[in-house]
Amino acid sequence: MLVTGLEILKKARAEGYGVGAFNTNNMELTQAILEAAEELKSPVILALSEGAMKYGGRALTRMVVALAQEARVPVAIHLDHGSSYESVLKALREGFTSVMIDKSHEDFETNVRETRRVVEAAHAVGVTVEAELGRLAGIEEHVAVDEKDALLTNPEEARVFMERTGADYLAVAIGTSHGAYKGKGRPFIDHPRLERIASLVPAPLVLHGASSVPQELIQRFRDSGGEIGEAAGIHPEDIKKAIALGIAKINTDTDLRLAFTALIREGLLKNPKEFDPRKYLGPAREAVKEVVKSRMELFGSVGKAL
Ligand code: G3H
Ligand code: 13P
Ligand code: ZN
Repeated sequence: MLVTGLEILKKARAEGYGVGAFNTNNMELTQAILEAAEELKSPVILALSEGAMKYGGRALTRMVVALAQEARVPVAIHLDHGSSYESVLKALREGFTSVMIDKSHEDFETNVRETRRVVEAAHAVGVTVEAELGRLAGIEEHVAVDEKDALLTNPEEARVFMERTGADYLAVAIGTSHGAYKGKGRPFIDHPRLERIASLVPAPLVLHGASSVPQELIQRFRDSGGEIGEAAGIHPEDIKKAIALGIAKINTDTDLRLAFTALIREGLLKNPKEFDPRKYLGPAREAVKEVVKSRMELFGSVGKAL
């Protein structure tokens, strides 16, 4: 069933588990995410970026809405990193039930004003809103405190921001970054800062750039001819700790992309004569489903479907 983001996330924060927001761009990824959620009786958030909407067009948004409506678990359809008011309105027209407005690169007052405007439009049609405060950047542990402060979310500002904007959930910058290169070894994540934010902001908190970049997938990608540098993600234990401190929505895209592409590479390499796309897309879809399931187990959302 199609529900708002807040319906899923409010319960998650109150009960201390996390819900995955998994990015989709096509039919196979969408099926993998929804099948994993149904098999594990987990709520789930399907995230579409502006790039995904451009790539998949109406075919993608109509498919996603129809499948979410039929799903036997709560599903929210979410605009990931909405960059403008117009982009949010487009998502609202397409039937999304959750939107993100990302003005985190603007100054505080502009971020407040633009977010407030989106909140008014989205709430008028019963859709809930994610906003972001702080800059997402891979930060090394040894970086000076004032440098960290300049980039990462300020807890007191977060409290004021949420009161002034009326946003429903907040993406925080606590050291993670997007993509496969999040820092050397075990990338830094600022749990004490998260704890302070969570003590001042009762709304569900959101972790972007949360992929764990499993080394097994990196190896399979390399073994099938892929080229990738020193890839590293967020350690599963660090994610668990973040959930215990108040993170309710965990964004995952990179891990799905790695699984999908590694399996396609393997399939093509093993069967050079094959040109039926179903023969290599099918196993790639299964691999994504397994990644989604293991993330749901890690987040603690298994069996939490309302
Ligand atoms: O945070 C961004 C997501 O990974 C989506 O990426 O804009 O390339 O679709 P994209
Ligand atoms: P990853 O690149 O770590 O998967 O993060 C995805 C994300 O934050 C989407 O908004
Ligand atoms: Zn993100």
